[in-house]
Amino acid sequence: MSGLNKIIINLKKEISSINNIKKLNIFKVKYLGKKGYISSQFLLLKKLTKQEKIKKSIIINNVKKQIKELIKKQKNKLEFNDIKFQVLNKKIDISLPGRYIKIGNQHPITIVINDIEKFFIKLGFKITASQEIEDIYHNFDALNISENHPARTEQDTFWLNKKYLLRTQTSNMQIRIMKILNPPIRILTSGKVYRNDYDKKHTPMFHQIEGLLIDNKINFLKLKGILSLFLKYFFKKKFKIRFRPSYFPFTEPSLEVDIMRENNKWIEVLGAGMVHPNVLSNNINLLNYSGCAFGIGVERLAMLRYNIHDIRLFFENDIRFIKQFK
Ligand code: DAH
Repeated sequence: MSGLNKIIINLKKEISSINNIKKLNIFKVKYLGKKGYISSQFLLLKKLTKQEKIKKSIIINNVKKQIKELIKKQKNKLEFNDIKFQVLNKKIDISLPGRYIKIGNQHPITIVINDIEKFFIKLGFKITASQEIEDIYHNFDALNISENHPARTEQDTFWLNKKYLLRTQTSNMQIRIMKILNPPIRILTSGKVYRNDYDKKHTPMFHQIEGLLIDNKINFLKLKGILSLFLKYFFKKKFKIRFRPSYFPFTEPSLEVDIMRENNKWIEVLGAGMVHPNVLSNNINLLNYSGCAFGIGVERLAMLRYNIHDIRLFFENDIRFIKQFK
C-alpha cells in the first residue's frame, strides 16, 4: 500500500507543475494512453496467479481512478486561471457610453384600427375575428357574388386551390356571424385581405374593417347616420365627405363614401349598404329583421389622416417611417 501512496504522491507533484492544457494532454497519454503506465501494469498481471490477479487489478484500477481525478482537477484549475488572466488583462473603457435600448411603437395601421374599434365599441359593437383562408362559399357564393363576377378571376384573387382562397374582403365574416348569432347583431371585424394588385395605391395585402348590424328597425338613414358620425369622429371635420350611390352584390341599395383630398380629388374610403335579402335570408327572418353593413379601407383612412401618398410605405418596415406615428 505504501508503494501505491508513493506513486500517487509523485503523480501529484508531477501534475502540479503542468501549466497548460497541451502538457496536460501529454501527461494523460503517458499514464492512461494505450501504451501508457496503467496499460503496462495490466500487462504484467498475465504472469500472476488468479488470486493475485484479482488483488492487483483492484489496486491498478484504484490508481487509474485517482489519476483521472487529478487530471480533471488540474484541467479545471488551468481553465479557471485562463479566464482570470483574460479578465484581469482586458482593458475596459468605463468612460464609453452604454447602449440604449430603442423602444418601439405601434404600427400606424394598428393605431388606426384601434381608434376605429374604439368608436364602434361605444356604439355597442362587439369585436370579432374571421379567418384569412376562406372558401368560395363564404367569400363569394353566399354573398350573392355571381360566378362570372370579375373579382373571382385569377388576376384578382389568390386561389389556394379550386375551393379555397385568401379572403378578398372582410365581408366573409357576414354569413358566419349570421349563422351563429341571433339578432340583434352588432359586430365589427378587422383584418388582412388579399388581392393581386401592386402600385402606389394598392398592395397585395391590406386591411379592412367590416361592420354588420342586424335589428328590427335598421334602415338606410340609420346607416348613413352611423357612417357620418364615424367619419366626423375619425377626421375631426377636416375633410369634405360625399355619399355616392354604388353597387355591391351583397347590399341593396349600396353606397360608397368618398373624401376630398387637398388636391380637390375625391378618394373612396368605404362601401356600405342594406344587406341584400339573398344574403340576409341565410339565417335571418326577413319579416322581422333588416340589416346594414359597411367595409372600411384602413390604409386609405390612415393615408388621409397622416397625409401619406404611397400605400407601400406601410409595409416596407422602415423604422424611420413607422416611428413617426403616435
Ligand atoms: N367588401 C367590399 C370591398 O371589399 C366593401 C363593402 C361594401 C363591404 C359594402 C360591405 C358593404 O359590408 O356593405 O370592396
